[in-house]
Amino acid sequence: MKLALDIVKKNSKIKEFIHQTEIYLDSLGFTDHGFRHVNIASDRAKSISKKIGMNAHEQELAGIAAYCHDMGNFLGREQHHYWAALLFSQVFLNEADNPNDVSTIAQAIVSHDKDDLKIVNKVTAVLILADKSDVHRSRVKNVRGTNFKKDIHDRVNYAIIDNDLIVDPKSKFIILRLKLDTKFSAPLEYFEIFTERMTFCRLAANYLGYKFSLEINKFKLL
Ligand SMILES: [Fe+2]
Ligand SMILES: [Fe+2]
Repeated sequence: MKLALDIVKKNSKIKEFIHQTEIYLDSLGFTDHGFRHVNIASDRAKSISKKIGMNAHEQELAGIAAYCHDMGNFLGREQHHYWAALLFSQVFLNEADNPNDVSTIAQAIVSHDKDDLKIVNKVTAVLILADKSDVHRSRVKNVRGTNFKKDIHDRVNYAIIDNDLIVDPKSKFIILRLKLDTKFSAPLEYFEIFTERMTFCRLAANYLGYKFSLEINKFKLL
């Protein structure tokens, strides 16, 4: 079987892992890591990889990696990137025609949250940009809960009312452009929790031969 995003999306085991991740992280009061997040990340991964000129097969692998990257969360938050990669391999290693597709995706999934990150393929770099750029009000799940506003992740995500990732092959810039409602959070709080994410994005963009830039409310901050 040739791995394809529509096959992965239809797979009942993959659906179940994402569904269980939603249940588990909802119970812990996390922002969305379920179907909303992985569909956005997957669409964005396909779009980024197309714009930077990756071939159709690589675009498909990036879309699959992004769709499956967080599905290990239901087994534990800390090592969720390893769990997701192992689950993916378990589902598709015997079925896929090309084991290299599975190893490429597994490596990208593990790398999206790794401390000792070393990017060695484009699919990994694209997944990191697609995942780490998803900050938005619609990710906040417990708007009416008691922790909302106390939790900095909820507050910062809720403050982001517009999010655009621009890939410009001419200037070789990848720009994350955010609109932040300062009634709910200040740009400094964004950096308090997302500095590491932005470092990941910079490393990923650099690997692809691009520079990374962050704009919040039309101010260029990176
Ligand atoms: Fe993750
Ligand atoms: Fe994610």
